[in-house]
Amino acid sequence: MADDRNGIMVMGHSEEIRRIAVSLREMGPHPVWLHGEDAPHERVNCLVAFRPPAGLMASLPNLTLVHATGAGVDGILMAPDLPEVPIGRVVADEVAKPMTHHVLHAVLRHLRQGEAFAALQKAGSWNRLLTRDFAQFPVAVLGGTGALGGAVIQALEFLGIPARGWSRSSGTTLEETLAGAMAVVVLLPATPATRGVLGARELALLADDAAVIAVGRGGQVEEAALLAELDAGRLSAYLDVFEKEPLPAGHPLWQHPRVILTPHIAAAPSAPAVARCVLESMERVARGEPPLFPVDRARGY
Ligand SMILES: NC(=O)c1ccc[n+]([C@@H]2O[C@H](COP(=O)([O-])OP(=O)(O)OC[C@H]3O[C@@H](n4cnc5c(N)ncnc54)[C@H](OP(=O)(O)O)[C@@H]3O)[C@@H](O)[C@H]2O)c1
Repeated sequence: MADDRNGIMVMGHSEEIRRIAVSLREMGPHPVWLHGEDAPHERVNCLVAFRPPAGLMASLPNLTLVHATGAGVDGILMAPDLPEVPIGRVVADEVAKPMTHHVLHAVLRHLRQGEAFAALQKAGSWNRLLTRDFAQFPVAVLGGTGALGGAVIQALEFLGIPARGWSRSSGTTLEETLAGAMAVVVLLPATPATRGVLGARELALLADDAAVIAVGRGGQVEEAALLAELDAGRLSAYLDVFEKEPLPAGHPLWQHPRVILTPHIAAAPSAPAVARCVLESMERVARGEPPLFPVDRARGY
């Protein structure tokens, strides 16, 4: 018998996307089509995407929900044909934990002088560098009231590392948050207001030898200003997100001795975690309720 239920389109071609489609099929009752398969467009009522190409949503006349493949929704909000339907995103332990691991790895590597000891080992030099005092190692977390920033702050505090959160609702200023910090974690959504939030003036507020840990979105740390600080030997950086991704070949950040670089992998949610949020949100929207983790379009996150 023909299946005429409405269903879900999953946009993208990567292995990550294919796994999300598999989980949605295994965990939910809806038909699931990968974009590019012969999907009956009039039967798609939920689109799951990171960055839907222009025109795709306009070709889906019965959409009732657009859902992100992760925590960030900037790729969806920038689509010119985004219809007036609710937008959902992923909030889950399966995102907060890997993000916390990624950030702590960078903070601890910096605190424990991982790069200096690696260089000493290479030189065959037994040099007992003085350990930094973790209690005197304030870490600024931009986006500290968020799902991810909050988890990072909790983990830092558990380790006895002083954390200072900053956000729109934190009641603190960016200047006081950055002043003398040994590391800054940039964990903000991409919006017009967060673009360029760390420029030359803000970077200058950090302690000498501080680390910039960028895990939100590219463009939040001004790359030219950061490069100037790196070249001067004052700051170092652990960068996961970039103005242009993939980072272009030959970009000075690739080979910079004061940079540890990862290709936007801090926290890709597991496919079952994405499927759980999508399926629950579909049920809620069908009942006339907002998605599980709704996006506020006016705020942009
Ligand atoms: N690199 C990766 O692999 C990766 C993985 C997952 C997510 N991300 C990025 O991380 C971002 C944050 O995720 P989340 O789940 O934590 O988001 P969230 O729960 O929505 O939290 C956003 C945080 O940013 C703050 N904020 C937003 N606009 C601001 C502004 N103009 N000035 C100051 N603070 C501002 C919010 O402050 P209020 O609470 O005061 O509103 C909140 O603290 C995502 O949007 C995504 O871009 C990256």
